[in-house]
Amino acid sequence: MTADVIDGKAFAAGLRARIATLAAAFEAQAGRRAGLAVVLVGEDPASQVYVRSKGKSTVEAGMASFEHKLPADTDEATLLALVEQLNADPAVDGILVQLPLPRHLDEQTVIATINPDKDVDGFHVTNAGRLAVGQAGFVPCTPLGCLMLLQDKLGDLAGLDAVVVGRSNIVGKPMAALLLAQSCTVTIAHSKTKDLPDVVRRADIVVAAVGRPEMIKGDWIKPGATVIDVGINRVPAAQEGKTRLVGDVAYEEAKAVAGAITPVPGGVGPMTIAVLLRNTLVAAYRNAGIDLAAGAI
Ligand code: GUN
Repeated sequence: MTADVIDGKAFAAGLRARIATLAAAFEAQAGRRAGLAVVLVGEDPASQVYVRSKGKSTVEAGMASFEHKLPADTDEATLLALVEQLNADPAVDGILVQLPLPRHLDEQTVIATINPDKDVDGFHVTNAGRLAVGQAGFVPCTPLGCLMLLQDKLGDLAGLDAVVVGRSNIVGKPMAALLLAQSCTVTIAHSKTKDLPDVVRRADIVVAAVGRPEMIKGDWIKPGATVIDVGINRVPAAQEGKTRLVGDVAYEEAKAVAGAITPVPGGVGPMTIAVLLRNTLVAAYRNAGIDLAAGAI
């Protein structure tokens, strides 16, 4: 058997097209565009690429993009003052402070300053709490994108055994909360888990978010299981001096056993920005007090 390959790139393109249609409808109703502010402190090359890509995608979806680039030595008071200014700006529906921040800045303090109703990353403790108790809020983009791919592939997830490998605040914990809310039986596994291969072997759904290249092997996968690989790891390629991207799952081995699997790249990766745009549009509708039909995006 060989697994179906889940095409996250195609799914994300479809989602972005639906968002663009709704963003145009929002502009017609509200008399303004939905707006996303992205704050970048310093010159980390990977962060610069992400921020550029987020800005471009925001404009392509028919929303306003506000980019704020601050020098690496920006002090905390200056950064917090900018966040407060964005909190108060009615043209800004969503605020994203690109992580990681330079070491002298405390990420939790900065995230805590963002108005939770503009926290389109879903990183504020208020949004983590809302997710935990089942209230409407913002859910981190990557796990919400994974859930969308799973529901598209499997339909109703109720009763399925789900194993999330990784317990970060950004992926593992919110992923587990989302799967629990869909009535999966959820296990969160991590670096201290005993007999990890046996735990993963029980899973109908495996979500790998550990950041270790190809750690999850093909013989850990239950035949027919659905495998979602969140890992993006750069490793040396066969050719001298070159690198290639691999996930947290040994793809070729797992593909021979699984029922469905996301590739790296082209699986979960393209979903993250699409969901960020979705969260921004949802924020705009809520901030403007206009109803958005349940399940519209
Ligand atoms: N850095 C890498 N991914 C992300 C993300 O999704 N949000 C923010 N704020 N920073 C990131």
